[in-house]
Formats: sequence, structure tokens, C-alpha cells
Amino acid sequence: MDWKTLIRPEIVQLKAYTVDRKGVRIRLNANESPYPLPESVRRRVLAALETTEFHRYPDPEAKALREVIGEWIGVAENALLLGNGSDELIQIIATTFGEEGGVVLFPEPTFEVYRIAALTLGERPYGIPLTDDWDLPFPEILEAIRRLHPRVIFLSYPNNPTGNCFTREKIEQILQESSGIVVLDEAYFPFSQKTFLPSLGQYDHLLILRTLSKIGMAGLRVGILIGHPALVAEINKVRAPYNVNALSQVAARVILEEWPLIEPQIAQIVAERDRLYRKLQTIPHLTVYPSEANFFLLQCARGGAALWEHLMAEGILVRRYPDHPMLKEMLRVTVGQPEENEVLCQAIHRFCSQE
Ligand SMILES: Cc1ncc(COP(=O)(O)O)c(C=O)c1O
Repeated sequence: MDWKTLIRPEIVQLKAYTVDRKGVRIRLNANESPYPLPESVRRRVLAALETTEFHRYPDPEAKALREVIGEWIGVAENALLLGNGSDELIQIIATTFGEEGGVVLFPEPTFEVYRIAALTLGERPYGIPLTDDWDLPFPEILEAIRRLHPRVIFLSYPNNPTGNCFTREKIEQILQESSGIVVLDEAYFPFSQKTFLPSLGQYDHLLILRTLSKIGMAGLRVGILIGHPALVAEINKVRAPYNVNALSQVAARVILEEWPLIEPQIAQIVAERDRLYRKLQTIPHLTVYPSEANFFLLQCARGGAALWEHLMAEGILVRRYPDHPMLKEMLRVTVGQPEENEVLCQAIHRFCSQE
């Protein structure tokens, strides 16, 4: 049997996400927090895991964790839905609101899971290039909304990988014009402190995504969807019953209860981001784009692909985009611990100042 004919061509064309970590000593490729849990919090998590029942399924509604997250964010529990990372929530949103051939719109470049989710569901991903300063292109987006009636619009705020927050008034206008769902993906909110959360009362077609991944819990895979309770109730029908495993439910709850011990790590990352920005700006032949997230997009006049190889040879892993037409020669670097950033800057400097 030729099983290959059973796979849709758009899936055959996709590449699976893999990362070669061999020989890597500094990982700045995935926008994780560079800081491990404080020891006292780690011990509390381990103690809580002792009593977790491994032979039972987890709470399908993750009620205890949702309560803690609701209080932490300041929203009602019935406005929340949790996912196995926001990656899963993106898939669930596209499943709930998309239809075969229906348009899923996003600016480009952006977080690639929006495209992959739409593609794998047989929907029509529709990317519109950002402006030269990485803002939303108007009137192009408004025209596309009027012409194509997208079922879902994804906006990463701040945008991954460009690092900036799009103009607020443009997003407001998109919310007013769109008759489909508008998703504000605020994965990097802890670093930008900019949010559309207060707009939820005004727009019942707005969904907000957050995640615990960027603030020290990437290994737990907990994503957060916030929306109008009636909408959340519909999306909840699509969610697999046990999508957040028992260990993650327990660990995330305990860690968030200790939030005052975690929060200073975010302030450290933000301060280090601003220091790293100033430092990168002094490197010749390097363009660094300003960022309100925990990473920077870099462009090296000496060639991004060669810089990536150079950093890899020094044991520093950063993100590259060899297959993306707009990002071919660009790299994305996550803000690491100060010593890691120092090593990164020195390595980039060595490469960029070669004759
Ligand atoms: C904009 C954006 N959304 C969502 C995610 C995925 O987050 P999670 O780890 O919760 O799946 C990322 C991760 O890089 C991201 O950059």
C-alpha cells in the first residue's frame, strides 16, 4: 500500500520542528527563562508531587490550577481554559472556529504555529507582510478582512520574532472591523506589560493567550486562554479531556502560589534585555531591532547564516530561519543570564569585526 498518498500535500511539505543541541553550552534559541526555580520553590513542588496519584487521570478541568491562575491574572475562572502549552490552544482555536478553506489571517513574520495549525486543518493560512518597521500594514490588513472575512486573526503582541508591540490603535481597528475571532497572543506580556485584557468586556470575539513557558515553566507546558465565558465554553468542547497532565497541574499551582519569589526573575530579564540591547547596538555590521519581549531579532551584514554557524561552533545555540523568505539572514537571540549574554556579545563581535 502506498500510504504516502494518504498524507495531504501541505503536510508532506512541512518540516517537523527539531533542534540539534549537541555540543551546545548556552541555549538562547527558545525564549525560555534562563533562571531555574528558586531552591525553596523547587522543594515545595517536589513535596507536592509526592502525594500526586500517578495511577489516576488528572482533573480534566484542572480546576485547582485554573483557580490559582484566575486569581493571578485577575479574571473569573469560567473565562479561562488551559492547554498543553499555548501551542495546543492555537490548534484548538483554529479547530473550533476554522472551516475547510476558511481564511486564518496573520501578519508576517510571526509565530509560525498559526500557519501550521491552519494548514494542518485544511484551512487557508493568509500571511500579510509587516511594514519595514515591523508594524501592521494598513490598509492591506483591513482590505483583507473586508474581502476574505477571516474566521480567525492571530496577532502576537509583542510579535515573535520581531519583538515589537504593534500599534494599539491599529489593533483596536482590527477588532472593530473583524467579524471573525481575533486572538491576541500575549505570550511575552510579562516583559512588555502591555495587554488587551481590559478590552475583553468590550469585544466578545476577542481571545487572549498567555503562557507559563516564558517565565520559568517551559517544561510544564501550560498555556492559558482568556475569553468571554460563553465563547470559552464552546472552545472547551474541542479540548481533549486530560490535556494538562497531573504533574504540570500540581507543579504550576505550587509555583504560582510562590509568585513573589519568581517575579524578581522577570525584572532581572527585563533589565538585562535593556543592557544587552545597548551592548548589541555597539557591534559593527549588526542591526538589532528594539524589543519589548525577552529576545532580539538580529541582522548581520556579514551574513546571518554564517554568524549562526560561528555561534554554533562556539557552543551558542540561537534561532535561525533558513526557510523563511523574510528572515533568511536573520537570527533571534533570547536574553540569557548576564554571563551568557556576555559570551554571546563577544562571539558576535568577533564575527562581525573580522576583516
Ligand atoms: C507568540 C508565541 N505564542 C505561543 C508560544 C508557545 O508557547 P507555549 O510554550 O505555551 O506553547 C510561543 C513560543 O515561543 C510564542 O512565541
